[in-house]
Amino acid sequence: MKKITIAIDGFSSCGKSTMAKELAKQIGYIYIDSGAMYRAVTLYSMENGIIKNGIIDTDKLKKQIADIHITFQLDPETGKPVTYLNGQNVEDKIRGMEVSSNVSPIAALDFVRVAMVALQQEMGEAKGIVMDGRDIGTTVFPKAELKIFVTAAPEIRAQRRYDELKAKGETANYEDILKNVIERDHIDQTREVSPLKMADDALLLDNSNLTHVQQSEWLMKQFNRVTEQAK
Ligand code: DC
Repeated sequence: MKKITIAIDGFSSCGKSTMAKELAKQIGYIYIDSGAMYRAVTLYSMENGIIKNGIIDTDKLKKQIADIHITFQLDPETGKPVTYLNGQNVEDKIRGMEVSSNVSPIAALDFVRVAMVALQQEMGEAKGIVMDGRDIGTTVFPKAELKIFVTAAPEIRAQRRYDELKAKGETANYEDILKNVIERDHIDQTREVSPLKMADDALLLDNSNLTHVQQSEWLMKQFNRVTEQAK
C-alpha cells in the first residue's frame, strides 16, 4: 500500500502525542514528536549557558545551532520513541518543568524553526510518518495527505491535566490550570512565527466528548479513506 504523510496539529493538552503515537504503531508508521525537538534545543541551551534566568543569548544559539543533533530511537523494551541530543538519551530531561518553562521563547525563534523544520522534512522524506506539533500541516508538510487538527474545550483539557497531576500525587489547582490552558492557547495562536492555525484542508477533531475507542475508530476510518484514495 502506498505510504502517506499524516500531520497532527492542535492545542496543548488535547492528547495529540498519545493519539499520534498509537496511530503510528497501529499502521506501522514512524512517529515523530516535533515538540520534543524544540524541547531538546531548549535543554541544549540550558546546558551550554545559552539560557540564563530565562534570558536567551540568541547570537550564541545561532552560532551553535548546527552543532545540535537530534535523533529518535525506539526503546526496544517499551517500544516507545526516545529523544537523543548529540548521542545522549534526554527523554526524561526534556519533559521536566525547567525545559517546559523555557521552551516557548526558544520555539518562537525563527532560525530555530528553520533548522527544525528542515530536519522534520528530512525525516518525512520517505513518507510513512505521523508527526505531531503545531505547524506540521501548515508549514512542515503542507502537502500531507491526511491532516488532523485536534481540539477540546479548555475546561475539559484543564480537567484532564488536573486528573493527570493528581494521579501522579502532585498538588494541583483546577482554576490555575484552566487559566494556564487559556493563556497557552493565546500564546500559541498569536505568536509571530508559525502561529498555531488549522490548515484549510485539515479535518477538525474535537475530542471533548469522545471516548478513547471512538477517537481511535475515527482516526482509522480517516486513514483508510485517504489511503484508499491514494492507491
Ligand atoms: O507539544 P509540546 O508541549 O511538547 O511542545 C513544546 C513546545 O514547542 C511548545 O511551546 C510548543 C512548541 N512547538 C512548536 O512551536 N511547534 C511544533 N511543531 C511543536 C511544538
